[in-house]
Amino acid sequence: MTKRILITREIPKNGLTLLREHGFEVDVCPGTTGDAPLSQEELLSHLRQNSYDGIISLLTDKIDATLMEAAPSVKIVANYAAGFNNIDLAEAKKRGIVATNTPGVSSLAVAEHAIALMLALTTRIVEADLFTKKGKYKGWSPMAFIGTDLSGKTLGLIGVGSIGIEVARIAAQGFAMKILYYDVVPNEKIEKDYHAQRITTVEEMLPQADVVSLHVPLLDSTHHLINAARLNMMKKSAFLVNTSRGPVVDENALVTALKERVIAGAALDVFEFEPELAPGLASLENVILTPHIASARDHARAEMARIAAQNIIDFFDGKKPQNQVNP
Ligand code: GLV
Repeated sequence: MTKRILITREIPKNGLTLLREHGFEVDVCPGTTGDAPLSQEELLSHLRQNSYDGIISLLTDKIDATLMEAAPSVKIVANYAAGFNNIDLAEAKKRGIVATNTPGVSSLAVAEHAIALMLALTTRIVEADLFTKKGKYKGWSPMAFIGTDLSGKTLGLIGVGSIGIEVARIAAQGFAMKILYYDVVPNEKIEKDYHAQRITTVEEMLPQADVVSLHVPLLDSTHHLINAARLNMMKKSAFLVNTSRGPVVDENALVTALKERVIAGAALDVFEFEPELAPGLASLENVILTPHIASARDHARAEMARIAAQNIIDFFDGKKPQNQVNP
């Protein structure tokens, strides 16, 4: 019988084409709020309209017990994201629902975004752009917008999965940065290839780094990994970059630290209560904010669509999907 898949938002067409070529019926939620994620009510209402066999979900869709209850025919949730903290994996497993993700294919994009944020902080390019567009540029000044070099500085990586490894590569090979890393598992490859040095505690690493970049998944153990106490351990001249998940940083504590110049600046692509920003964050001068777009590149997104679709195809072909996250 034809299998029916719900894709909760428009994704690159190649994913849909692949599913349709394999005989799936595919519905894409049109949404009522432009490009914004579906509300939980909208999502539930879509799921109740048809008997779906699988879902391609976004990182903004909360795939919890209520949703699984509302869609008892769903056998696979293929997350269109590398992260999968939006899925209640234990609940899925209990109900025999397979969950998958799209790892690896967006790592380079996210790593480049992290490096772009580092450069934006050190070159003050965002402030300077705004200044120039506002017509404030009245002539060259020896003292205007003095930044700092990224090259030769010390980068502290927290988490060296596939994204952290790419950041280490670009930072070491492109900017001759000294790489320190904290991860629960040692990474011989970056130690050998980029002379990265493993630091066994976050506390030991923070005071040494000029830039701290976060690349951990969101887990109980990484929630508020960067808090007030740890911000206080960083150099006053240091920058914090977060392209991982918002709740890894205590955003209110970060606002206070930035206001009080405990650290020099921060750049965030993710937020603790996305899409809300912590009070005061947006009005700070020493912060750069992007709206969770680190993987928003044509190649990465097309690959994510392909992989999400392939996971569904494999599952209904009776194979174990390559990117199953709840074995
Ligand atoms: C993006 O945040 C992703 O998890 O792919």
